[in-house]
Amino acid sequence: MKFFLDSAKLDEIEYAIKKWKIDGITTNPRHLMNAGMTVEDFAKEVKKLVDGTSISVSLEVNPHLDDPNEIVKEALSIAEVSENFAIKIPATESGFEALAELSSKGVKVNVTLIFNLVQALQAARLGAFYISPFVGWREERGETNIDFLKQIVQAIKGYGYKSQIIVAAVRSAKHFVEAATAGADIVTAGFEVYKRAFDNPYTRLGLQIFSEAWDNIYGR
Ligand code: E4P
Repeated sequence: MKFFLDSAKLDEIEYAIKKWKIDGITTNPRHLMNAGMTVEDFAKEVKKLVDGTSISVSLEVNPHLDDPNEIVKEALSIAEVSENFAIKIPATESGFEALAELSSKGVKVNVTLIFNLVQALQAARLGAFYISPFVGWREERGETNIDFLKQIVQAIKGYGYKSQIIVAAVRSAKHFVEAATAGADIVTAGFEVYKRAFDNPYTRLGLQIFSEAWDNIYGR
């Protein structure tokens, strides 16, 4: 399972590439707002970090757009900046129409804001490169995710679609477990979520116990 970082902060992205060997980056307008950047500025800056690598970057089109032609136009202008870019398009009727056009032109599309299996299947049918179900948002509304993710993985892989499933809006290590158990291709999570998930108090306790044993052998 690949690990993507969900962030538009360049310092976090640089850190995750260098220290964690992260496989990809996803962003959304809220991340851009938090990083104080436009999508155009972000595209220009992140390109410098990923060009010549296999690191994928997903950038979202203007969420106000509802005309498929306008979505396609904006997607093409972002996609031409770097071959590492995938374009995030919402799972709406207009978004699906734009997806069909973009995938026929060879643009990698990440269909975002997926909350049910039918949206996932429609995205896969029309050639989505990535499909992003939002588990954290569902959980905040009282839904559970393991069966939801298993259904998506089983349907997409079972029918032989090529789309990769990115488990998105990940809030905790539990969501990684659910993604891996379901057989998802990728998880995308924020910087702090990774920091917390990599850490475990038993690992720290174990280090303390082993350090004491070491000192017993070698002296301090
Ligand atoms: C994923 O691609 C999205 O950017 C992200 O996970 C959205 O959710 P969040 O910003 O609430 O985590």
